[in-house]
Amino acid sequence: MKILHIDTSINGTNSASRRISAEAVRAMAARHDDVEIIHRDLAEAPLPHLTLAEFGTEESQQALAEFQTADVVVIGAGMYNFTVPSQLKSWLDRIIVSGKTFRYTETGPEGLAGGKRVIIALARGGFYAQGTPAAGLEHAETYLRGAFAFMGISDIQILNADGTSIPEMRDAAIRHAEQKAAAVAA
Ligand SMILES: Cc1cc2nc3c(=O)[nH]c(=O)nc-3n(C[C@H](O)[C@H](O)[C@H](O)COP(=O)(O)O)c2cc1C
Repeated sequence: MKILHIDTSINGTNSASRRISAEAVRAMAARHDDVEIIHRDLAEAPLPHLTLAEFGTEESQQALAEFQTADVVVIGAGMYNFTVPSQLKSWLDRIIVSGKTFRYTETGPEGLAGGKRVIIALARGGFYAQGTPAAGLEHAETYLRGAFAFMGISDIQILNADGTSIPEMRDAAIRHAEQKAAAVAA
């Protein structure tokens, strides 16, 4: 089983999403034999913004190939300014590629990357659940769910840690998400 582990947080060892994504990978690796893990740290080694020239680089092709050949993709991300970190967007720009992971047909778009499992550890400083005042500003979970579904992936699990910017709530939110992460391989 090939696990592609993507981290994006700029917060280093103080990152909630890194803790949760690491726990999900650990739990899966403990349950399965013959696991290959590729860890891509996009905060440490960011992919540049997409340009026409960037489409063809070896680095871009490699990022796409890693995604295409992965059985499980585990992503750690915080919400930055209501959406995903730009480091993650740059990676998504390498993998959401017409003719590779989706195509347009006469009857609409068709995903070509089905059959994978995607697990997303998503840390948000505040709260964005439906019915809350900031719900309309939630463009991280909705975007990621939509983007992976567009590529034909139906097995998408979000491990949320919400309220990480509120000191009284932070630890419990992270612990709760870590517990969910520990159960991903069950
Ligand atoms: C640049 C920046 C922008 C942020 N924007 C938001 C935001 O729009 N909404 C929110 O709820 N939290 C926001 N936060 C808080 C993060 O979502 C929160 O700290 C989260 O835990 C970050 O993930 P990490 O702990 O894995 O780094 C922001 C944090 C940073 C550093």
